[in-house]
Amino acid sequence: MKAAMSKNVFCTAVLSLAVILGGLQTVCAQQNSGSSAGGPAGVIINHYAARNFTAGAIPAADLERIIQAGIRAPSARNLQPWHFTVVQNQNLAKKMVSDNVEGNVLIVVSAAGDGKTNGVQILDCALAVESIYLAAQALGYGSRIYTGPMDSLNKNLKAELSLPSGYSAVALVRVGKVQGGVDAVSAASSRKKTEDLVTYKR
Ligand SMILES: Cc1cc2nc3c(=O)[nH]c(=O)nc-3n(C[C@H](O)[C@H](O)[C@H](O)COP(=O)(O)O)c2cc1C
Repeated sequence: MKAAMSKNVFCTAVLSLAVILGGLQTVCAQQNSGSSAGGPAGVIINHYAARNFTAGAIPAADLERIIQAGIRAPSARNLQPWHFTVVQNQNLAKKMVSDNVEGNVLIVVSAAGDGKTNGVQILDCALAVESIYLAAQALGYGSRIYTGPMDSLNKNLKAELSLPSGYSAVALVRVGKVQGGVDAVSAASSRKKTEDLVTYKR
């Protein structure tokens, strides 16, 4: 009788834990995907370029994971031509993105060359940029890619950013907190029609 009772208590405890974990997983998936569609492809399909960043620090462990996503990006012949400059200093950040909010981090991706004509390296850097952009959203942050500030950055800020000698910035990714509950699908701009973009040769 006593054994049966403790077995019941054990089963109830395991069941409760499973329910709590299941619920947590759903909440995390919703937060992490930032969208209604979860699952591994959720962030990739439903990403959006964040517009309204809010103040707030990004914990170092999250930032490290986001940077690792860039480092792990694929590159031609695995040359990994990139350098990542992680700008947390707000004065410096505002020189690149004038409306930067306290706590936002700008990750500048640079490579050897002028940042414009070093073809395959730019493609490699673009993949690292995309990985950073998506990893940030997978962790529940907002992110946005910028190339607009590159000309001025490469002209005026290379030394202040300590870019490696001979490198130019290709793009930067802004990562930061955003209002919770943003519906990524409707927050994103519309896309061209699939039938105008895709050709199947069957
Ligand atoms: C290569 C590249 C450069 C971009 N440069 C800028 C930029 O300089 N400033 C900016 O506000 N957004 C920039 N964006 C963000 C785009 O405007 C945004 O991704 C696009 O409008 C789609 O928005 P959505 O994802 O919200 O639909 C850039 C995006 C890419 C991919």
